[in-house]
Amino acid sequence: MVLIGGGSAAAQTATKVEPAEIERIRRANAQCLDCHSEAGLNAITRPDVNKADLAGRLVDPEAFLKSNHANVECVACHVTGFKEFPHAEAAKQQINNCDECHTRQFLRIEDQFLKSVHAKKAEEQPGSFTCITCHDPHVFLKASHFSTTRQAVRQDNAMCLQCHASDERFAQLSKAPLPDLQKIHAWLPNTPLHWAAVRCVECHTPVPQSILSHEILPAERAEKNCVACHSVNSTLRVRLYRHLVEEERETVGFINSVILNEAYVIGATRNRYLDMAFGLVAAVVVGGIALHGLARFVAGLKRRRRDG
Ligand code: HEC
Ligand code: HEC
Ligand code: HEC
Ligand code: HEC
Ligand code: HEC
Ligand code: HEC
Ligand code: HEC
Repeated sequence: MVLIGGGSAAAQTATKVEPAEIERIRRANAQCLDCHSEAGLNAITRPDVNKADLAGRLVDPEAFLKSNHANVECVACHVTGFKEFPHAEAAKQQINNCDECHTRQFLRIEDQFLKSVHAKKAEEQPGSFTCITCHDPHVFLKASHFSTTRQAVRQDNAMCLQCHASDERFAQLSKAPLPDLQKIHAWLPNTPLHWAAVRCVECHTPVPQSILSHEILPAERAEKNCVACHSVNSTLRVRLYRHLVEEERETVGFINSVILNEAYVIGATRNRYLDMAFGLVAAVVVGGIALHGLARFVAGLKRRRRDG
């Protein structure tokens, strides 16, 4: 299926795009990218193009070609007024929204988004918080399309961190000071590792029946239970590792190996050696605590003797 011009067809019914059609789309898009890319901008000699204006409106062609929309024409979303230059003044705001092509699936997502903690912001300041706030249509790639979970984690967490790690961006939406992420999550050991290995949404959305929910819950309902992930029934199986798990079922019918391949979550697998290793770590931790307690006890005794 191909989307031309208005692109009102439902994208979820999309199947394979013919190679010749892809070729045509690439050529059409290249005409836009002749101006709207870093390389294009540097090569422009036309005097009627305001380069300073253009510089703030560039698309990364490489990222675009890797994105879910690689085979969508620029003008399928930027519907009218862009084929000519200068672009038609009146038509500039006419952009196809996500739901114009993804109707069915996105209704469910929108419902969830409207229940999320951010929806109030969207209501207070219309346009301030929409699908595009998190999903750059020129870049976004669905988690299941990445070759490693780490890459998916990086992309998806960057969506949240554009606000939750930026005083400036956060202040555009909230009068309250930006909460310090390190402090809030101080209960979580090795937060940098966790943030490279799991997504914010893993803990901040309800466990879904099938796929990831867009309902960001209030902080007090966030997941704090280590066992939710560090257990054989890890919720990561229906979240971050879902597509890996599905692939595995289709091919081998056995889940553990795929999780073991790249992201071993302590406790989530039944590998004898790793279990033993984890057992050892646990023993060392428990032993350490016991030793610490003993040392304090002895120190206390000494102190009491000295004082008394
Ligand atoms: C000759 C260079 C050139 C070509 C070719 C070109 N553009 Fe542009 N485009 C610009 C410049 C310069 C601006 C900023 C000034 C303006 O808005 O007109 C711009 C602005 C835009 C904007 C932002 C409008 C806004 O309201 O901020 C979009 C979207 C856009 N172009 C899409 C396209 C698409 C899609 C194509 C291909 C069909 C395309 N452009 C082809 C030079 C070009
Ligand atoms: C799936 C839909 C979609 C496709 C395909 C798409 N765009 Fe966009 N584009 C958007 C949306 C939505 C926005 C508005 C983003 C925003 O408001 O932050 C946008 C914004 C822009 C802007 C303005 C950026 C700015 O910072 O003001 C330019 C320029 C642009 N697109 C060019 C392109 C070019 C060139 C292509 C093809 C290579 C393309 N777009 C393909 C949806 C799309
Ligand atoms: C002009 C129509 C159009 C618009 C508007 C549009 N998309 Fe798409 N989208 C497509 C097409 C076509 C595909 C490719 C489907 C395929 O490859 O099977 C796609 C694929 C996707 C996929 C991958 C689907 C999958 O299951 O692999 C996601 C996610 C996605 N789009 C998100 C968005 C978001 C978010 C927006 C709004 C910012 C948006 N789209 C706007 C046409 C559109
Ligand atoms: C607060 C940030 C945020 C907002 C706002 C947001 N999303 Fe998402 N979205 C995500 C994250 C994170 C993922 C998980 C990444 C994945 O599964 O690839 C995701 C995944 C998706 C996916 C692919 C997974 C799936 O369920 O099929 C689609 C499609 C999607 N979003 C559409 C939308 C639409 C439509 C809107 C607006 C109603 C929206 N998103 C608003 C963050 C956001
Ligand atoms: C392992 C689970 C987990 C992960 C991963 C996680 N969080 Fe949290 N987060 C929580 C829990 C639990 C709380 C509530 C803390 C409390 O009440 O002590 C919280 C609180 C918050 C708050 C509320 C701050 C306030 O106002 O008190 C924000 C904002 C937040 N997290 C953002 C994020 C972002 C952004 C990421 C990704 C970089 C992330 N979280 C990753 C579990 C997690
Ligand atoms: C466009 C900016 C922006 C993005 C993107 C964003 N947030 Fe937020 N978030 C906010 C603001 C602003 C608040 C504070 C809302 C308020 O003042 O009530 C907030 C509040 C929160 C809270 C606290 C809710 C409570 O109970 O107080 C959590 C948890 C949270 N966000 C998680 C996330 C996660 C997870 C993501 C990514 C999927 C994300 N946010 C993306 C701006 C953002
Ligand atoms: C949302 C799922 C999730 C939750 C909740 C969670 N973890 Fe993790 N944890 C992971 C993942 C994924 C890794 C990284 C595995 C890897 O790739 O190395 C990890 C790694 C670790 C590590 C290894 C750190 C290192 O330095 O090697 C420890 C220890 C750990 N978690 C303890 C905890 C504790 C304690 C809690 C509860 C307070 C907790 N985790 C909650 C998913 C989670």
